[in-house]
Amino acid sequence: MSSILLVTSSPRGAASHSTRVATELAQKLQAKTPGAKIVTHDLANNPLPHIDADYATGIYTPVESRSVRQQNVVGVSDSVVDELLAADAVVIATGMINFNISSTLKAWIDHIARAGRTFSYGAEGPKGLVTGKKVYLVIASGGVYSSGPAAVFDHATPYLKAALGFLGMTDVEVVRVEGVAMGPEAEAKAISSALEYTSDLALAA
Ligand SMILES: Cc1cc2nc3c(=O)[nH]c(=O)nc-3n(C[C@H](O)[C@H](O)[C@H](O)COP(=O)(O)O)c2cc1C
Repeated sequence: MSSILLVTSSPRGAASHSTRVATELAQKLQAKTPGAKIVTHDLANNPLPHIDADYATGIYTPVESRSVRQQNVVGVSDSVVDELLAADAVVIATGMINFNISSTLKAWIDHIARAGRTFSYGAEGPKGLVTGKKVYLVIASGGVYSSGPAAVFDHATPYLKAALGFLGMTDVEVVRVEGVAMGPEAEAKAISSALEYTSDLALAA
């Protein structure tokens, strides 16, 4: 059975543009694949802990030698890595927060980037181990970053592409819901354009 992992991170609940567009995209992708399931990880309501000393040492400690706390914090990471590896497609939603991704999503990235599980290092350098997955990024922003003078301030899109690419996820589509703070008309247009684009992406999937 095909599985779609939907990762949302906005704290704005039903008002969130990124959650709405990403959820609709996941549902459109699901409709294309009979029997496909959506696994949702809502990082705003179920945030992951910041990585700490026990995490940083625990991941390099053999399983049988880990302290109870190390087992617990590495266990959190293991479960989100398992969730990621089980997915055929991944839909990730974030609002742009101070020119970058939400901090809850950053914590998720910190937990899924695991040497030996999602990437490896060898004589030829790093190798991403999370391959064969289509990834969709839905990024909502008050301003416009796809072109124009603010484009250089978009640290969310290049960061996510670099971090996911490092782990082997290089087939990435970006859906922007941009300019939502530029008046009601611009906001409505941003949402309708993004939703239209998700229909195109689902058709092409
Ligand atoms: C604390 C905070 C910081 C924000 N920083 C930015 C920013 O740097 N650039 C921007 O264009 N919009 C910024 N915004 C606006 C959000 O990106 C916009 O409201 C977006 O819709 C949030 O995503 P969401 O609707 O999924 O919650 C910020 C909003 C908040 C609450």
